[in-house]
Amino acid sequence: MKQQIVQFKQEVRNTIFMTEEDLEQFRIRFLGKKGILAVLFDEFKQSDPSVRKELGKELNELKQLAENSYSESKTLMVPVGVNAGKKIDTSLPGFPQPVGSRHPISILRNKIIEIFSRIGFTIAEGPEIEDDWHNFSALNFPPEHPARDMQDTFFIEKDESGNGNDIALRTHTSSVQIRLMEHGKAPFRVIMPGRVFRNEAVSARSNCFFHQVEGLYVDKNVSFADLKQTLFYFVLEMFGAGTEIRFRPSYFPFTEPSAELDITCSNCGGPGCNICKYSGWVEILGCGMIDPDVLKNCGIDPEEYSGFAFGMGIDRMALNKYKTGDIRLFFENDQRFLSQFNTVI
Ligand code: DAH
Repeated sequence: MKQQIVQFKQEVRNTIFMTEEDLEQFRIRFLGKKGILAVLFDEFKQSDPSVRKELGKELNELKQLAENSYSESKTLMVPVGVNAGKKIDTSLPGFPQPVGSRHPISILRNKIIEIFSRIGFTIAEGPEIEDDWHNFSALNFPPEHPARDMQDTFFIEKDESGNGNDIALRTHTSSVQIRLMEHGKAPFRVIMPGRVFRNEAVSARSNCFFHQVEGLYVDKNVSFADLKQTLFYFVLEMFGAGTEIRFRPSYFPFTEPSAELDITCSNCGGPGCNICKYSGWVEILGCGMIDPDVLKNCGIDPEEYSGFAFGMGIDRMALNKYKTGDIRLFFENDQRFLSQFNTVI
């Protein structure tokens, strides 16, 4: 009998379970009511008392071994899915885990943030649902000002009394400037990334929502020269050494003077292509010296402080950089498209 038990122990040790069926057969053979252990325990009762001690020890060891093997293997069986009821083979190579990639808009936004943070700019954010004051009035858009027509807005609540207390999806991140200056204390050196909304026809080059980064610099004795040098530094870091800039006079109600900043087209390098509309230049942002009335609206004395602001759109920049041909692709959430932008910045 002892010989038999030793053999069974060996058998238990050598058994490999691949499926739930293997396991069930093992249970019936060893642990079942009429299984090997039951038969051996019956035999054991009839055995000679002189060998009982030794046999009992062997038999208990076999029982332990069989029970452990059964319960351990059961917990290793995969509970659900196509492999349900099969044993996990820990010697097999693992399933590859696909590494995610950053969204192209995030890649560019992070790069912009990183460049400005190197020269002391901090980051702030504001709400996407904005009131009239922060989006328009404080920025010098009076109620009937034609500049309000520049931006066709998604209104959420229209103030019927005509007092202009409308609530809308913000049309630009310039609203965050106001929130910062109202609540903070000069000097300011902040960039404000965020999503903005305009009631525009969706096309390959424009969307009804897009992303901007706003910049604000307020201190004593800030001049247009500071604005120029800061943005020139940004352009060189962002688009590469050798990129040239030019300022074109422009108009924004909240800056005076105002300008638009063009850079030499990074696609053709100058001679002209369809990206720069054959001009050799691409517009990247609007900027200007903060209008003294805007500073006053936020409780800042324009005699003491001056400053500049700028605002750039990220989506067009991404369109030019990645040459995807259609801005809408960025927001269709198609993994095949998005996983191509694997640069981790
Ligand atoms: N808010 C402007 C827009 O959405 C961009 C802009 C222009 C922001 C000039 C500024 C600025 O801060 O100074 O078109």
